[in-house]
Amino acid sequence: LSPQDLAGKKVLITLGPTRESWDAVRFWSNPSSGTMGACMAMAAHLRGAEVTVVAGPTALDFPSDISVVPVNTALEMYQAATDLWPDMDIGCATAAVADFRPVSFGEGKFKKSDSRDSGLTVEFQPNPDILQSLGAHKNSSQKLIGFAAETADIAQEAERKLQSKNLDLIAANDISKEGSGFAVRTNQMYVLDSQGRREMWPQLSKTEVAWRLWDHLLL
Ligand code: C5P
Repeated sequence: LSPQDLAGKKVLITLGPTRESWDAVRFWSNPSSGTMGACMAMAAHLRGAEVTVVAGPTALDFPSDISVVPVNTALEMYQAATDLWPDMDIGCATAAVADFRPVSFGEGKFKKSDSRDSGLTVEFQPNPDILQSLGAHKNSSQKLIGFAAETADIAQEAERKLQSKNLDLIAANDISKEGSGFAVRTNQMYVLDSQGRREMWPQLSKTEVAWRLWDHLLL
């Protein structure tokens, strides 16, 4: 039996990609499968937590004891997560949120002929940083875990995000490395916490990473 060391804790997890519509049929997104978030959710559930998942579009299924709030856009994810946050003990942001959304073309479908062969320019506007907002409204009993997918300066970027987003723990990985990042079953993590611990972990399955992250937070 799993240790029930998260019993009585309410855990909020954001996961998956977001989809940012441009017209009636087109959207901007990324290849996040939601696997890391699902692993965090399942591990927390097995360890006794009451888990709520705010999920962008994924192919995942969850046991009925995990409550799932499905969303599409970053704005919807922001709204759901910030509404839920005051009632939570722990937040964990694994979602690959689109940092920008296209300025909408309109209600209908853009036609190729509309561009008159001159190509297509789409304007974007920034989305809110959900994790940053949770961090800004974190009370002294709440804990917050972030993730960081980097292609360069992992250590510096992770340090900066730990501070600027007011996190208790951040797990960073180099997505340019094989076996780390999007749509793979493993991750190699550089783990930093607000108590000054810094650890480089070996390449592990996402299930194992999730289990160890909860261990690390509870230590
Ligand atoms: O700043 P960066 O996007 O690299 O930070 C990654 C972390 O912030 C992840 O935990 C991700 O889920 C979260 N994030 C968020 N909302 C955004 C952008 C990132 O919650 N708009």
